[in-house]
Order: sequence, then C-alpha cells, then structure tokens
Amino acid sequence: MHYGDLTDAMNLTRIIQECQPDEIYNLGAMSHVAVSFDTPEYVGNVDGLGTLRILEAVRILGLEKKTRIYQASTSELYGGMPENKNDKGFYDESSPFYPRSPYGVAKIYGFWITKNYREAYDMFACNGILFNHESPRRGETFVTRKITRAVSKIALGLQDKFYLGNLEAQRDWGHAKDYVRMMWMILQADQPEDWVIATGVTTTVRDFVSMAFNQVGISLEFKGEGVDEKAYVTACSKQEFQLAIGKEVLSVDPTYFRPTEVDLLIGDPSKAKNKLGWVPEHDLASELKDMMASDVELMKKDVTLLNAGHEILKQSE
Ligand code: GDD
Repeated sequence: MHYGDLTDAMNLTRIIQECQPDEIYNLGAMSHVAVSFDTPEYVGNVDGLGTLRILEAVRILGLEKKTRIYQASTSELYGGMPENKNDKGFYDESSPFYPRSPYGVAKIYGFWITKNYREAYDMFACNGILFNHESPRRGETFVTRKITRAVSKIALGLQDKFYLGNLEAQRDWGHAKDYVRMMWMILQADQPEDWVIATGVTTTVRDFVSMAFNQVGISLEFKGEGVDEKAYVTACSKQEFQLAIGKEVLSVDPTYFRPTEVDLLIGDPSKAKNKLGWVPEHDLASELKDMMASDVELMKKDVTLLNAGHEILKQSE
C-alpha cells in the first residue's frame, strides 16, 4: 500500500517508478455529481488533471510499452441529451458528449487526454464509459444506497420516512461486480479502445424506490406532483416488516435537486458483448436483492444494539 494523491504529480511519479506496474486502473475521483457543483475547481484538478498526471508519469518514466492504463470514464459525459442517442435510442461509443456538471466536464478532459496519449505516444490507454454501477458497497449518499438503507431502516421501525430529490430521473443501473470484471477485460484486449458498459435498461428513481420496498414485502402508492409528491404504504405482505397502511414514507426535498440534471441515461453495450464476450450476470432485480439483503442485515445490528441499550436502561432503573 502506498499513500498517494491525484493532485501531486511528484508523488504519483515516484509511486509508479517504485511499482513499475503492468496495469493502472484510475478509479480515483471526486465522484459525486451534486457535490461537484460545490467544489468545481477541486473536481477539475482531481478528475481532469489527475488523469493527465498518471499518463504523463507513465510517459516520463518510459513505461509506455509496459504499463496499460484504464481510465474510469462515465455515462455522465453524454449528459442525457435526447438528440444524441443512436438510431436505436441508446448512447454508444459514437454518441456525442454534452456534460451537465463540473464532474462531467472534468471527466471529459480525462476521456480526451487518455485518447490523446494513446494516439500521440502509442500507449495502451483505454476509456471504460461505465453507466451507473451499484452494489452493497456503494457510498451512502448515492441514490441507490441512500434508498436501500432508508427502506431497510423504515421496514425495521428505526426510521419514520426519508427525502429524495428528482424522482423522474432515469438511470441505467448495473451491478458493480459485472462492471469491474469488464474493466479488467478491457486491459486484456488485443487493442486499446474505448468501451461502453451498460445494461440497456433504464429505470426511474421512483420505480427503484418501489422495487426496494417490494424486497421487504411493502407496496407503495405515489400521490402528488413535483415537490409535493409523496409515497404511502398500501400493503405489507411479510410478517417481519409490518407498517401502518397509509403511512407516509417518502417526500421530495428540493435541496437534492441539481442546478442542471441528466434526465435519462441508457447505454448500448453491444461492442463489449460482441468483441470482448462480456456477459453480465446480474440485472437490476438481482442487484437490488443483493443491496437490500445486505442493508437489512446491517440495520438489524442497530436493532440488536438498541434493544441491548433498552435492557441496560431497564436494569439500571
Ligand atoms: N445522490 C442523490 N441523492 N441523487 C438523487 C436523490 C438524492 O437524494 N434524489 C434523486 N436523485 C437523482 C439524481 O438527481 C440523479 O438524477 C439520480 O438520482 C442518480 O444520482 P446518483 O446516485 O448520485 O448518481 P449519478 O447518476 O449522478 O452519478 C453516478 O453515476 C455516474 C455514472 O456511472 C456516480 O457514481 C458518478 O460518479 C458516475 O460517473
């Protein structure tokens, strides 16, 4: 393990010199799109110039022929512009970019500098244009994990309700396990190229919420529009997770709206499937099952701790 920082070129160069790596996966970034509006300069430095610092270190050290580089590019590059989809209605490797956040703009620099170093210096440097990928390890402030944690807590009686921003947004959500395998496959390919990794299915945030509640046997109905939209419990089919019918479990909070939003993302992974033989093992349903099972288990530990606390209080009375 080495300590490093994408804003520190000297330190990156030294680490790469010491390690003489065969492969570098640049997954380092400030990766939260909403936060990038608050820290635009920092994001430009880390996500944009940080990519250049790695490429340049490899070049200066004369490792161009030894070290293969994977750059974590993103579906945020497309910006969800409807007119830029291909004839079949998807974003693919030839779709134009139109980033909608400081994060997307910084990542577009990372994309092009990777391509430029590949062409200018004949380096094996590739972009994986990954659409959203989730797992039980997803950070708690990204929408999928925020939902699975909140739903688990509500189902166990640890939380009353929760708040989200734009429920209309649509994302192409895949499982991180499938996507990380593909990152590795990209660096094992014969030629350095850029690749779209996606499922080809898009789902609204609202439907993701319903699907998460369904995992614990709770059905919802959504009422109201825009900032007044709320979700209420209509049925509970599992003995373990019983809530009052009509209970309000979700409201919209405009704090979570973004100054510019990416409305809809859907990717076409045909190239990865046909040329590299990538076969995803998960769909959104199995991914959600994974995340909900993990978070329900995690939150049950809170219930155990809470009960133990109550017991201690009772004994001390
Ligand atoms: N985070 C968050 N929190 N998003 C919310 C909320 C909320 O309370 N309510 C609604 N959303 C909407 C966002 O407005 C967005 O349209 C969608 O949910 C997804 O938001 P995120 O989960 O934060 O992910 P993202 O799509 O912006 O970006 C992620 O995926 C990209 C593509 O792979 C990040 O992982 C990026 O780093 C990555 O590049």
